[in-house]
Parts: sequence; C-alpha cells; structure tokens
Amino acid sequence: MSDRKEDILKILKDSNKKPVSGEELGEQLGISRTMVWKYIKSLKYDGYDITSSTKTGYVLNSSPDLLYPEEIQNGLRTKVIGKKIYHFDEVESTNNEAKKIAHDEDEGTVIISETQKSGKGRMGREWVSPRGGIYMSVILKPTAPASHAYHLTLVTGIAVANAIRNLGIGARIKWSNDVLINNNKVCGILTEINAEMEEVDYTIIGIGINANIDTGMFSNELKEGSTSIKSELGKPLERVSFVRNLFYELEQEYIKFKSKPFTEIINEWINLSDTIGKHVSIMTHSKMIEGKAIGITKNGALIVKKPDGQNEEVIAGRCIYTKTK
Ligand code: BTN
Repeated sequence: MSDRKEDILKILKDSNKKPVSGEELGEQLGISRTMVWKYIKSLKYDGYDITSSTKTGYVLNSSPDLLYPEEIQNGLRTKVIGKKIYHFDEVESTNNEAKKIAHDEDEGTVIISETQKSGKGRMGREWVSPRGGIYMSVILKPTAPASHAYHLTLVTGIAVANAIRNLGIGARIKWSNDVLINNNKVCGILTEINAEMEEVDYTIIGIGINANIDTGMFSNELKEGSTSIKSELGKPLERVSFVRNLFYELEQEYIKFKSKPFTEIINEWINLSDTIGKHVSIMTHSKMIEGKAIGITKNGALIVKKPDGQNEEVIAGRCIYTKTK
C-alpha cells in the first residue's frame, strides 16, 4: 500500500468515524482534493468501507478482513517478527515465495497470502488453503547448526498454541508440529532450512492455520480430524489481531530459544503436550514405530516405550494415536 493511502487511513481511523473533509485531508498531506479522492477510491477497491458526503467528508466505517501489513503492524508489539510483511492475495506456496527472497531479507520478514494454490504440507502432502485461513512463512536466521534450527518447529508450536489459548480455547500440541483443539488439528507447521556445511543461512517457518474456515468443505479424509478456530469459537476470528498476537508470542519464544537452555522450551512444550501418555504409531521415513509416548528428550525427540519394554527415540515422523488395548 502506498504511503499516502496509509496516511489517509490513519487520519480516518484516528477521527473515529467523525467525517474528515477532502480539503482537510489534502491540506494535511500536501496534495489536491482530486488526489485524495483517487486514493479513497483505491482504498475502497482494497475493501475499506468508506462513505463520502460532499457536505461533511469521508468516514471509515470498517476495514476488510484481509491480512494487510499496515493493519497488522498498527499496534504490533514486536521488534523483529513482522517488521516487514509481504502480503499476497494468492501464491503457490508462501514457503516458496519466502525462499526466493530469504537470503537477502532480514530475519523476521513475513510472507502472508490470503490463499495458496499448492500449499505444502509435511512429507510431500498438500496443505489445502481456502480463503479465511492464515497462511504465512516467517524468515528466521538463528546462528545455530541446522540440527538445532529444526527445534524452531517446537518453538513455533508453543507460540501458536499460546496465541490460540489467549482466545480462551484450550489448544494443545501433538508431536511434533500439529496444534490441536479438542483432539482435532487446527494448525500445521512446515520448517524448511537452507544451510551450508551445517551453518544456517535461513530458516523458513511455514504456518497454516484453519482460522475462518468451514472444515465441512474439506474432503472426507481431511474433514475428519480437522477443526477451525471459527468453529471452536462459535464466531469468526478477528484474524488481524490474532496474527499480531501470534507474532508477539513467536518473538517471545524465539528470544528464549536464542538466549536460554533448550530445556526451558522443552518444559513448556511438555506442559502443552497432547501426546505424552498416549499410545502412538509413528511412520518415519524408514519404518513404523508403535508404543506409548512417555516423554521427549532434551533434543525434542519423542521417547516411545515399545511393547518389548525398550525405549526408542524418534526424531521425525508422522504420529497417529492408536487405541489402548
Ligand atoms: C503440515 O503438514 O502439518 C504442515 C502444513 C504447513 C502449511 C503451511 S501454510 C503456509 C506455509 N506455506 C506452505 O506451502 N506450507 C506452509
């Protein structure tokens, strides 16, 4: 959005629905009334509900439910995350967009899209991305070896769970990177790392959240086991303020990740865990491991007690809950 449009929005927001005349706007910005009118027309096209009367002036009635950077950044309490946001209406995948620019961007830059044509899930699966969801990729550049940077998935899971819990909904984390509400998945996280000789150049944290989505429109396979914040809240989510709060939660966890022993993150994760104590079946790239999840190592691996009494530590894989026999 152009600086002028942002300035006009700010003035209209600050006026709290008291009409502001074109002349006044023009004077404050040093532009003609015709230019003001052009910018207003463009704001309306962006979805801002602005009424105008020749006698009184312009009134901003409501902002669109779109994740525009200037809306998110207005009142954002972070120092790094979300300081720069690229917003798209539609992309193939925000992770792919992020990859194109990550090397040259500062950490904390975020790519957001209203919808994705080929959203990527873990293990080569698709992440179905209808409008109303939240699809974003955050670029982070920790000075950590690649093996450690993968822990950012756990860090992000905690941040998303906390942001949802701040809405009064009891979100929990399913190992390693699903956020659940009432046993159903509401968020998935896909971390991609670019490293050379174990040194991280950049990390892309892809976050997909079923926010204002009717999961009834998903395929049968997806519908089962999925939920959305809207259905759990019983009303639409105010996505802009949710994203603002998510950035804040993510920054808090990221600061801990960089400055504190990882055991602190692990303990937080354990407190939010939905998996520990459950019977699981985990599909790794090479085999299936079944047993009871009894804990998590200081490196974030899940400890599974197998039927033969042996413990196995699993670093990555797809986790399914199985019934207790
Ligand atoms: C999972 O399989 O659980 C991970 C899903 C991650 C989806 C998000 S949506 C934003 C970002 N861009 C992508 O293409 N994928 C991630």
